[in-house]
Amino acid sequence: MKEPFVIAIDGPAAAGKGTLARRLAAHFGLPHLDTGLLYRAVARRLLDAGKDPSDGAAAEQEARSLRPADWQRPDLRTPDVDRAASIVAAEPRVRAALRDFQREFPAAHGAVMDGRDIGTVIFPDAPVKLFVTAAPAARAERRFRELQGRGIAVRLEAVEAEIEERDRQDATRPVGPLEQAPDAVLIDTTGLDPDQVFSTALEKIRARIAPAA
Ligand code: CDP
Repeated sequence: MKEPFVIAIDGPAAAGKGTLARRLAAHFGLPHLDTGLLYRAVARRLLDAGKDPSDGAAAEQEARSLRPADWQRPDLRTPDVDRAASIVAAEPRVRAALRDFQREFPAAHGAVMDGRDIGTVIFPDAPVKLFVTAAPAARAERRFRELQGRGIAVRLEAVEAEIEERDRQDATRPVGPLEQAPDAVLIDTTGLDPDQVFSTALEKIRARIAPAA
């Protein structure tokens, strides 16, 4: 069976994965899945139900009953959901419940998918893997501006501490931790604007799969 054409983008919080993934998807005419939204949707449902995000059984139940409307909600990018998503994402039963949907998403058409374990666990044979990162201070600054732009009052130091804690949590969990796949191309977006990140990624993708690009 022919493998779907998947561009796997992994990396830590606020590294610029989402912006890059959307632009690559538009460029290649591929669907895009921001897999972080799935974990965020599970977290949101638990918070709404007044449940503890570290309640593994409850989190698994929410993950198994997730519907598209849940990850299309507009209220998934708030600091309380950031924290809770990282907690539910450490639960192996949640990761298992969301695995098949992610693997089936590209179907025959292919996809651009961004997250933490796309190139390591979900599509270890993806033809293109990018690991997108940036210096912690640059990532904190970006998230701070993004939250401010949406009218959410936060302090830069608090954003920096939260991102650091979430990265630590994401990188040290036993199942599906954040790590660079050995065959992933590293892109450090510190000091680059979205156009520069896009053209750097395109160059690296072309070098890897010349005929398809
Ligand atoms: O946008 P940001 O980089 O801040 O986060 P996100 O990609 O929306 O992911 C939110 C949380 O979901 C992360 O902190 C991870 O704990 C979790 N996640 C994951 O475990 N695996 C994925 N494939 C995607 C996200």
